[in-house]
Amino acid sequence: MTSPLTPVLTETWDADRSWSLDTYRASGGYDALEKALGQDPGDLVQLVKDSGLRGRGGAGFPTGLKWGFLPPDDGGPRYLVVNADESEPGTCKDIPLMMASPHLLVEGVAITSFAIGCNHAFIYVRGEVLHVYRRLLRAVEEAYAAGLLGKDVLGKGYDLDVTVHAGAGAYICGEETALLDSLEGRRGQPRLKPPFPAVAGLYARPTVVNNVESIASVPSIVRHGADWFKGMGTERSAGYGIFSLSGHVKTPGQYEAPLGITLRELIDMAGGMREGHQLKFWTPGGSSTPLFTDEHLDVPLDYESVGAAGSMLGTRALQIFDETTCVVRAVTRWTEFYAHESCGKCTPCREGTFWLRAVLQRVEAGQGTQEDLDVLLDVCDNILGRAFCALGDGATSPITSSIQYFRAEYEAHITGGACPFDHSKSALFD
Ligand code: NAI
Repeated sequence: MTSPLTPVLTETWDADRSWSLDTYRASGGYDALEKALGQDPGDLVQLVKDSGLRGRGGAGFPTGLKWGFLPPDDGGPRYLVVNADESEPGTCKDIPLMMASPHLLVEGVAITSFAIGCNHAFIYVRGEVLHVYRRLLRAVEEAYAAGLLGKDVLGKGYDLDVTVHAGAGAYICGEETALLDSLEGRRGQPRLKPPFPAVAGLYARPTVVNNVESIASVPSIVRHGADWFKGMGTERSAGYGIFSLSGHVKTPGQYEAPLGITLRELIDMAGGMREGHQLKFWTPGGSSTPLFTDEHLDVPLDYESVGAAGSMLGTRALQIFDETTCVVRAVTRWTEFYAHESCGKCTPCREGTFWLRAVLQRVEAGQGTQEDLDVLLDVCDNILGRAFCALGDGATSPITSSIQYFRAEYEAHITGGACPFDHSKSALFD
């Protein structure tokens, strides 16, 4: 089989000192910025629209369309905010990208800012990843010193300041409006939408909020064109993306490939499942997306196909579990995370995740009743579509889907009065 891998974002990750400006420039880095600064900003927005790039943070909203939502220039500031608060369980693509190739992001920020008419961009990094924060600060410093940021970028008369900001480590701050509140110095809690940030975002000004991988995809689109990008992936899910494989595969890691690749192909590239074990369940896009099983090995991993099969592509965080893993334990762990991270602003999510955790913990410990499964589904039903932001909906996904596919396993905990698994064999949720 010819390798379907498409190293674009990951192309220079293995280069010596891949994070330095010198290495980045040696592989053509910042050529796209030079090219972009010679173009009409409106043409750049159209280029990204034509490319079909969709938001890589999970929702898959068309990136160029989002840029096009900004109201006409009224002379006041407008902002670009990069959401680098990657926190979805299993998701680990933006952090390695920023560590290995911070200048790819900085170049994307500069091109995007120019395209949308912004003179001050922010990169909001998850608080726990101090090493990433430091690496970005250094890259931004290098870019300023080389005239790639600051006053009169590359002598083309365009000014751009970039601020790197570290959050305090809260999952909710990855929700774009909570992120904006946090950036403004307030406690990070989601805002009501609409108005969307495109209309009233940071400091109530028009703001584009984009994920790291989305922005890092922009330089190569400028370099190679919309048709090149559209030539990869599927008709409605264009291009490539980083798939993060974790769990029971031989070689976990980041695999960059065109959208539409299948889990079967990705597992092949990751050396297969652990020796002597079989796939049991997996998440296509982090723990907030409904689980898949071995029935879904050949579902093309694009937005439409994953949706049609009952889940979401999300962040392409493929957490892979073999038959040694207790699904009830895995789901309980994720639910503990959601209950801990719920910001408390809305009742369905605050109270709902509290009760989901309590019921799951007793079922997992073998102290549940048959009724508990109905209670779980009922609480999920009362959260879904009623929470203030996507956190509540996401918390329900692993529960409802695991009961759909593995009800017998839940029942075995209840009738057996204990968890039937030896957790040391899975070694993931012990
Ligand atoms: P959403 O679908 O509400 O919005 C997506 C983006 O499109 C936002 O930037 C929004 O402002 C914009 N948008 C949507 N409709 C618009 C309109 N009419 N006008 C202007 N802009 C519009 O999704 P949301 O809540 O932003 O994200 C949910 C996703 O986040 C989930 O699918 C999940 O996969 C992902 N997620 C990612 C995490 C990570 O660590 N990367 C963590 C948790 C969830």
